[in-house]
Amino acid sequence: MLTRALTTTRRSDFALLVREGLSRPSQKELPSKFFYDEIGSALFDQICLLPEYGLTRAEERLLSRHAAEIVQNLPQPVAVAELGSGTGKKTRLLLEALCRRHAVSYYPIEISPSALATCERELKDIRCISIVGLEREYLDGLLEVAARRREGQHLLVLFLGSTIGKFEGEASAHFLRQLRGILWEGDVLLLGADLEKPVDILLAAYDDSLGVTAAFNLNLLARINRELGANFDVRQFAHQVIFNQQTRSIEMHLRSLSDQTVTIPGADLVVKLARGETIWTESCHKYSFDELRTMANESGFRPAGIWLDPAWPFAENLWVAV
Ligand code: TRP
Repeated sequence: MLTRALTTTRRSDFALLVREGLSRPSQKELPSKFFYDEIGSALFDQICLLPEYGLTRAEERLLSRHAAEIVQNLPQPVAVAELGSGTGKKTRLLLEALCRRHAVSYYPIEISPSALATCERELKDIRCISIVGLEREYLDGLLEVAARRREGQHLLVLFLGSTIGKFEGEASAHFLRQLRGILWEGDVLLLGADLEKPVDILLAAYDDSLGVTAAFNLNLLARINRELGANFDVRQFAHQVIFNQQTRSIEMHLRSLSDQTVTIPGADLVVKLARGETIWTESCHKYSFDELRTMANESGFRPAGIWLDPAWPFAENLWVAV
C-alpha cells in the first residue's frame, strides 16, 4: 500500500556544492550524493549486476538466507526507516519477514526522486506495509520518522550496501553518533559493511571491463552539463580508481585528460583543470571486524548480531542502541 510521499526539493543545493567542491585550491571534489539522478540510478542498477561487483549480491544472499533470523532479534513492534531507498529488492526480503509478525510502516529516506519512485513502485504490492517516502537528507528524514513514531513503537534503521563507507575517517563515527542521538534505547540499526579483501578484486569491482562504473562516475559531469548548463567535454575525462592503503578505501576520481577550462553558469563558476589533475568523487572504505566493533561501541550501540557472506567478504551488522 502506498500512502503518500513527502517532497522537498532543494535544487540549489546541487549548484552550491558543485561550486564549493570545484573551487578548492588543492584536491577538487564533487559530492557523491548527486550520482543518483535518473541516468545514474539506472547505471548503478547495472553495476549491481556486474560479475566484478559482488557487494550487492553478497548482501542479497545474506538477507535472503537470514531475514527470518534477523527479524527474530528485533524489538516489537517496529517501524522501519531506510537511509537510501535502493531498488527495494533487498528491503523486500526484510519487510516480508517482518510482516509475518505485524503490519509495518516503512519510510524510505532518499534525496533522489527517481530512486524513491522506483522503491515505492517495487514494494507497494506488499500488503501489510504502508510506505511513506521522504525526499530528505538521511538525518533530516530520520528526525521526521522519529517524530511520527507511536508510543511503544521501536525503530529499525536500515543502512545497507556499505554506504557508511563513503564517510571519510572520523566522519563515519560522527554520523553514527548523530544517528544514535535520534534513536531511543533499544532501537536497532541494520548496517551493511563491505570488508577488506584483496586489492585486485577491489580495483576490478570499481573499474569493470564494460565501463559501466566509468559511465556512472562520468555521469556526474554530464549531469552538471544538463542541470547547471555547464560545458564539460566528458570525453576529456577518464574514470580513475585508486586503493588508498592509509585509509583502506577505494577512491574514485575523474582525471582531466588535457588542460581545460569549463564554464558552469548555474553555479556561477569557471573552473580550470590541468592535464592529469583529478576531481575526487567518492571513497568506499573497507572494514575489519575490530573496526566495526569499535565503531559500534564509540557511537552508542552494542553489536547484537553479525551475518557474513562466504563468497564475498561482506558483513550485515545488527546493532542495538544502548
Ligand atoms: N559506494 C558504493 C560502494 O562502495 C557504490 C558504488 C559502486 C560506487 N560503484 C561505485 C560509487 C562507483 C561511486 C563510484 O560500493
